[in-house]
Amino acid sequence: MAKSKQARIVEGTNKYLIANYGRLPVAMASGRSSRITDADGREYVDFFSGFGAGGIAGHCHPAVVRAIRRQAGKLTACGNLFTHEMQVKLAQKITKTGFGGKVFYCHSGAEANEAALKLVRLAARKADQAAGRTVDNPYGGRYKIISFHNCFHGRTMGGLSLTPEKFQKGFEPMLPGSVKVPYNDLEAVAAAIDVDTAGIFVEPIQGEGGLNMPTREFMQGLRKLCDRYALTLVCDEVWTAPARTGKWYGYQHYDIKPDVMTLGKATGGGAPLAAMVAGRKVQDVLVPGTHGCTMGGNPLCAAAALATYKLVEKENLLEQANVKGQRIVDCLKGANISCIREIRGFGLMLGIELDKPGKDIFAACLDRGLLINCTQETVLRLAPALTITDEELSQGLDILTAVLKGQ
Ligand SMILES: Cc1ncc(COP(=O)(O)O)c(C=O)c1O
Repeated sequence: MAKSKQARIVEGTNKYLIANYGRLPVAMASGRSSRITDADGREYVDFFSGFGAGGIAGHCHPAVVRAIRRQAGKLTACGNLFTHEMQVKLAQKITKTGFGGKVFYCHSGAEANEAALKLVRLAARKADQAAGRTVDNPYGGRYKIISFHNCFHGRTMGGLSLTPEKFQKGFEPMLPGSVKVPYNDLEAVAAAIDVDTAGIFVEPIQGEGGLNMPTREFMQGLRKLCDRYALTLVCDEVWTAPARTGKWYGYQHYDIKPDVMTLGKATGGGAPLAAMVAGRKVQDVLVPGTHGCTMGGNPLCAAAALATYKLVEKENLLEQANVKGQRIVDCLKGANISCIREIRGFGLMLGIELDKPGKDIFAACLDRGLLINCTQETVLRLAPALTITDEELSQGLDILTAVLKGQ
């Protein structure tokens, strides 16, 4: 019997692609709104948006497609010796919806965090020079960065250094001065700060780490510690932004402003665009020659990202995230599902903590045509597009509740 198209693609994947992902034998072919179709024509309701990167506006939103088409016919790359309108318009949106400042563009969350790491070290040096402070270490400047247990900041060597040890195995040594302390433990943070500390990286909700929520006191306490010790506070918003949590950026839930935030995943509306945003105090730290990214903010990706930002405003997606997130929570709570311990999150970034491993739930949902994710063994993650329709939501919730109830 002839192999299906999907089987051929999976075979080709195993033969030609490096096996660094634990891939499922499913080849996706097309998507629209919150439905995605595999190469053999099977349709799935998408409650996970490809680790959040499928876009908050759903697959192939007509406005994003139009923007990409229009830009593809005009200019797709010009390098960063030149500027162009799309980069500027997008930066205006990002800074106006955030805390002002200036933007550096790249392609992935890890790259945005690399830029932030470099900025944090340089900012410490510049601040110390300006204040006439000397630093007594072999590196010539403050270099230590604090991050948190169960965090995730990417797979490049810098991001990996900030990320828990289980991801680092085999790739040591890490960056010197990467210090990890428990999330939500301000005393531990204060105790970890010393004369060599330059900054703190924190996720406003830990995504990969199991949808862990920081307290308001914790986030505000971090801000105060950074102010007291002249540290740069970096919010890694790669999962939480834009708009996914019902606010433009996750930090806005805690009434603080970071000095720097990093963006990735959904920012490009499905195109690879990431960014580091530096607030007024540190926006001029990087100067020519200190950092770069050849294709960063290329017109094609910037056009897709700009269209996505505009959709958040036009389609009221902040409110949509809150209303639809609440609908999911109400539905799951109302269904009295005995294996659910807790539901956490904001907007449409939700975690369902189970009293058992979630692997089989994930597999059963996939089998019935629903895409979700399971992290930290017992936490199911839901991150549908903010544009998900009532019908798609109902269909997905019917599958999820049935599977969770063992029906
Ligand atoms: C909070 C956070 N930061 C950074 C990254 C790395 O992003 P990328 O995979 O685009 O490099 C991730 C990826 O999951 C993430 O969740």
